[in-house]
This record gives sequence, structure tokens and C-alpha cells, in this order.
Amino acid sequence: ATSRNIERAGSAKQQLSRLVKESLGSLFPDEVQPIVAACQAKFGDYQCNNAMVIWSQLKGKTTQFKNPSSIGQAIAKNLPESEMIESTSVAGPGFVNIKFSNKWISKHIQNMLVNGIEQWAPILSVRKAVVDFSSPNIAKEMHVGHLRSTIMGDTLARMLEFSNVEVLRRNHVGDWGTQFGMLIEYLFEQFPNWEDAGDQAIGDLQAFYKASKKKFDDDPDFKTRAQQAVVKLQSGEDKYRHAWQNICEISRKEFDLVYQRLKVQLEEKGESFYNPYIRGILEEFERNNLIKESEGARVVEIDGYDIPLIVVKKDGGYNYASTDLACLWYRLTEEKAEWIIYITDVGQQQHFDMFFSAARLIGWLPASKDAYPKASHVGLGLVLGSDGKRFRTRSSEVVRLVELLDEAKNRSKAELIKRLEDNGKITDWTDAELESTAEAVGYGAIKYADLKNNRLTNYTFSFDQMLNDKGNTAVYLLYAHARICSIINKSSKDIEELKKASTCMSWKINTGVIGKIVLDHVDERALGLHLIQFAEIVEEACSNLLPNVLCEYLYNLSEMFTRFYTSCQVIGSEQQESRLLLCEATAIVMRKCFLLLGITPVYRI
Ligand code: ARG
Repeated sequence: ATSRNIERAGSAKQQLSRLVKESLGSLFPDEVQPIVAACQAKFGDYQCNNAMVIWSQLKGKTTQFKNPSSIGQAIAKNLPESEMIESTSVAGPGFVNIKFSNKWISKHIQNMLVNGIEQWAPILSVRKAVVDFSSPNIAKEMHVGHLRSTIMGDTLARMLEFSNVEVLRRNHVGDWGTQFGMLIEYLFEQFPNWEDAGDQAIGDLQAFYKASKKKFDDDPDFKTRAQQAVVKLQSGEDKYRHAWQNICEISRKEFDLVYQRLKVQLEEKGESFYNPYIRGILEEFERNNLIKESEGARVVEIDGYDIPLIVVKKDGGYNYASTDLACLWYRLTEEKAEWIIYITDVGQQQHFDMFFSAARLIGWLPASKDAYPKASHVGLGLVLGSDGKRFRTRSSEVVRLVELLDEAKNRSKAELIKRLEDNGKITDWTDAELESTAEAVGYGAIKYADLKNNRLTNYTFSFDQMLNDKGNTAVYLLYAHARICSIINKSSKDIEELKKASTCMSWKINTGVIGKIVLDHVDERALGLHLIQFAEIVEEACSNLLPNVLCEYLYNLSEMFTRFYTSCQVIGSEQQESRLLLCEATAIVMRKCFLLLGITPVYRI
């Protein structure tokens, strides 16, 4: 393996921005932030859009420039000498169009091939983040909304980790609150010897929850006992603590079935963990005169809202908001996270807005929402069924998420087997390989169908759509990747070696000696340019918390590859070596996209 320690230069956009910044610095005494963006191919590769903004500030105050276009000219002329830039031109009211040199694009790709895709990790300004995701509630149903949060959170965590951010992946499970009194009391009553039966006693926890709730509502004596049980639990009485743990453990096992299938890593730190901190942080609010009494409750008033944020309920108990305040305090001061990201359905937006505002009032978070440390709420739209209503499975009974996942896998396995039988290839495949491919495709399909949408929009859950092998689906993309692998494989590379190269480091590449990439054909160049934009796409997806940007990039990459492969002969051509390197680079970048999206790549079909 290579241990060369190469200073990362940042994305192409960041590198170009540095050049533009130098040019601006030589022209204007005040610091100007470069405005640089990829542009339509007919203009160039990138565009610098500073001229118009600068003109609007200088107009009437300068004799040096006659119009925005002359500012554009000056920016272009003052760009430092660099092998990155092939040519520039100024268009319209001062857009500076910039074209990269083919040589630089090739070198940039070659560097990645030799030193690994980590070379293309974006450089972010945070070092430590919390991603609070999945977070189902004990004894209640883990539903598709939690699934969406699980998928989204895992991807965001993966993208941040790739960008060298230390990520605390937190499962903020709802494991505290008055409902536990009722559950515990019901456990004692229904299963007097529950301690011997372990978690076998309860069986279906959701049915158990419903039954205990019914009893709680119908039977005043039971209600009183349940309320006393809460007090005993909260004061730490052994028997109650133990029963509570037992109930949590049953839910945890069910949640884990989902996490294992989806290969999602999470660390549980539930609501109960923060309970001991609540009193202290509320005292801090009191000392700062931020808490008032309202209809018997203790509240924080938040500007812009008609209703205040309740932090202590009428009965003296703490709630979701006081727990979240304590948790935010803990993450900021004890864990020293600079960016705290919460992923739930959009329905909770007001809760987050309000307690973030409370944190700003007390000075834990800076007044500006963009400054660090920062708290962000990632709101998710609903998952709908094909009837346009909130998604439920066929039976109106509880949807077990595991069953949903298993169905995706089973369907994709059936498809795969059919396809292989049609091709006469089924005999080459071991059962284990069939199984792992079906898992990769099935779970990948569920994840991708979700992630490709803008997260705020509702999306319709449809097995038929997500498992289609045409169009913008994981199946199509995974197969596209496998086909590229088979092209490379035909040129004598072994599939096992490919798999090891989950990032790169394969073939001649691990010797550090590779041929040169030539980008003479327009479709070669378009593919090359798209490849080097990977880093800035990941950067954008991270900063805006929008993985759909990465999905779109991945889909376009496969389209551009198809165009290249259709117009440029690879095997047996004069440019074989260069073109195989482009195939390899494409496969590596696709693979990295899959991994960032939490999808397991497939190497043959
Ligand atoms: N348990 C909550 C729910 O199921 C989500 C918790 C999100 N995280 C948080 N810190 N509030 O809706």
C-alpha cells in the first residue's frame, strides 16, 4: 500500500477559487470572496461571477473600470500562471469563463488513481459533529419515518466521515417518560415471573404497549399504580430499573435487526441518559431569567411563536424539550461537537426551531444561524404508499420494518435468478454470492429510492419502481458499475483484486506507475471533468445536508460513461491503456458514491 503523504489540495473548485482569490486580491484592497461555479459546457468549465457584484459597489466611485465587463477582463488577466487553466474569456456583463487544461484534469485523475480516492475528500471547516438519527421510541413501532431517518443519517455520517470529520452517530431513542410506569406496572401484573422468562415473557411489545395503555385509560387504580411506578423508576429503585431495562432490551433487539440488515452503525444514547442533567440546565435558565410560569407550567418564551416552549410540565415532569435542551448542552460542552445534526420528520421542525432559539437566548449557540457551533434540523417528508396515503403495508396491522427489507431482498433475488437463468450463467454463481448480491441490490434499492429525492418532499414507496433495472435506480447503477468491472476484468484483472480495491489500489496502480490519461475525444474529456468534480459534490451534499446531490452526480456519471463507451473503443484500441484508466477511475468514483450512500457495490451480474 502507498503511504505517501500528500497534502490535499481540495476540490477543483476550491483550487480554482484560490487562483481567483489571488487575482481579486491584486486588484482590490478589500477582501473579496471568490464566486466560482461550474457552468454550461458551451461557455467553459467554470465561471467566475464576481465582476457584476464588484461593479455594483464601485459604480460612480472608480475611474479605473468603465463597466462590469472591464472588471471581468481584469480578473481574467490577473489570474496567476497555473497549469490548471487552459484559457479564459469574458462574456456578457463580466462573466469570466474558465477552461481547464486537459493535462491538469488528467494529472488530477492520475493522482487519485495512484494515491487513493481519499485524495478527493473535501476539506470542511468542522472537525467534530453529532449526527442524531433513527431514534425510534422504545415499545412503540419503528416505522418508515424512522427508516428514512436511519438511511439519511447514515449517509450524512458517511459523507462527513469521508471528509475527515469525527462523527458521533447517535441513536436518541425515546427510552424515558411516564409511559414506562404503565409498561412496568403491566409487566408486573401480567407476568409475575417475568424475571425468569427474560424477554420471552412479553413477546409482541407493541401489542403489550396497546394493552397496557388501554388498562391505563380504563382502570383508575392501575393508573395510580402506574404513576407511582414512574416515581420509583426515576428514583432508581432496583426492581423498577431492572424491568425498564428488560423492556428496552426487547425493543433494542428489534431495532438491531434493521440496523444489521442495512449495515448501519449507531451508538445508543437515549433520552434517559440526559435526564440527570436537566435540573442543572434549567437552573441556568432560571438564573438568566429566561423561565416564566404559564398555566402551571414552566416555559421559555420564544420570539416569533404564539406559544412558549414548555420545559417543565404542569405535573412537574420534564418533557421532550427539556431533554433536548440538556442533550444539546451535553453535546456542546461535554462532547465539544461543532455541528449537531438532527434527522426527523418535518413535522418536528417547530420543536427544533424553538429549542435552538432557547439555546441561542442563553448563549450556547451563536446568534447567527450559520456560525459554529451550529445546530441543524434535517426535516424529512413523508413516505407514501401507492395510494398516495401515508405508507402502510398490505395488512393494516403493524408494519414490521424487517419484513419490508426482507421483501426487497427476496424480490431482487428472484429477479437476479431469472436474469442469470436467461443468460445461462446461473451455474457460475454460488448460493452465497446470490444471497449477498440480492442483499446489496435489494437494500441498496430501498436506500437509493429514498436518497435520490430531495429530503423535504414526500416520496412514494414502490418496490416495482425501485427495483426497476432501467432509469435512475440503484439496480441500474449497480449493474452499470458491474459492467465497467467486467470491461476492466477482460483486460486480465481478477475480480477478487477488484473487490479488495474498495477504494482503489489495484492493478498496475499499486506500483505507483501508471500510463497517462489522454482526453482527446470530447466524451473522454466530459467524463474526465465530471470525475474531478466528485469532491465538490460531496462538499455541497455535506454543507447543505442534501445527499440527493450525490445521487444526481452518480447517475450523471453513469450516463457520461455510457456516452464515452459508446463513442470511444476501449479494448484493442490505440488508446487502450488511457481508456482503461478512465474506466478504472469511473468505477472507483462510482464505488465511493455507493459507499457514501450506504450501498454495497456489486462486481458482476
Ligand atoms: N424519538 C423521536 C421520534 O421518534 C426522535 C428523536 C430525535 N432526536 C432528538 N434529539 N429529538 O420522533
